[in-house]
Amino acid sequence: MAITSMNDPEYQQKPNNCRLTIDNREFIFDLQGKFSHGNDEVLFDPDGLMEHVSWQKEGFTILDLLSPTETNRLITNLSKILNQILTEENLGSLNALEKYHEVIDSDEKHQKVISRTRFLTSRDFEIDLNEISRRVSHELDKEVGIDNPLLEEEIIILRISRPESMDINPLHRDGYLDIWANTINVWIPVAGCNKWSSLPLIPGSHWWNEQDVVRTPPRNAVINGNTYHVPGIIGGPEPLHAIRPDPAAGQALLFTPFLVHGAAINQNSDLTRMSLEFRLCAQ
Ligand SMILES: [Fe+2]
Repeated sequence: MAITSMNDPEYQQKPNNCRLTIDNREFIFDLQGKFSHGNDEVLFDPDGLMEHVSWQKEGFTILDLLSPTETNRLITNLSKILNQILTEENLGSLNALEKYHEVIDSDEKHQKVISRTRFLTSRDFEIDLNEISRRVSHELDKEVGIDNPLLEEEIIILRISRPESMDINPLHRDGYLDIWANTINVWIPVAGCNKWSSLPLIPGSHWWNEQDVVRTPPRNAVINGNTYHVPGIIGGPEPLHAIRPDPAAGQALLFTPFLVHGAAINQNSDLTRMSLEFRLCAQ
């Protein structure tokens, strides 16, 4: 049974367990933090960026975003960026992105890499983020762009998840951080993304009332010794049932920053999963 409230006796016994199902398979992992319920309010604004979309109820969609040429250019670009980081850190070189774990074969090496891939910016990429913003704006029928007035520069995260590892962030909502409340999340598969590794999300969870959500404050959730900026969620008004929509190459997952997502456990035994994520802001 999933842990759904602080009154649940099991929750009191094991306050640091996050239990969820992903496509009906149950997972439990250790999530450290100071947990509490929120106020009686729903944070998602139906008149905001997703006012006109047909997928407002579910909170996400899969969009055809990049052409095959653009997809190949993106993969080449990311290989170049990663190999540059590996060279600078004296960690060898990569031939195929999905075989990253064969080169970066220890947690220590992986930490060195992700300390840099978590904070890329548009200047690191050759892809046209303005054109991507135009395509997403068209889908939303509202104007969004990479410039976020609350940030000096929007970060673009290359997420790397080694096979059968705990390279995951907690279930979370980016929208808890004010800087991302008025944005739309864009998640692009890059390598090793399939139904066993794609980003899990909980459809409809952007409508959850905060008093039913059990979560940590910002910069408090810890998994495997890593602290995350976003508050980690371990309970909602219903058991935590996530699905993996699994967008194909060239497609992107678009979702509201108030949709609960994360815990992207990579169940592949021999493929590293890489994905790109950023947020486009209302203009
Ligand atoms: Fe996120």
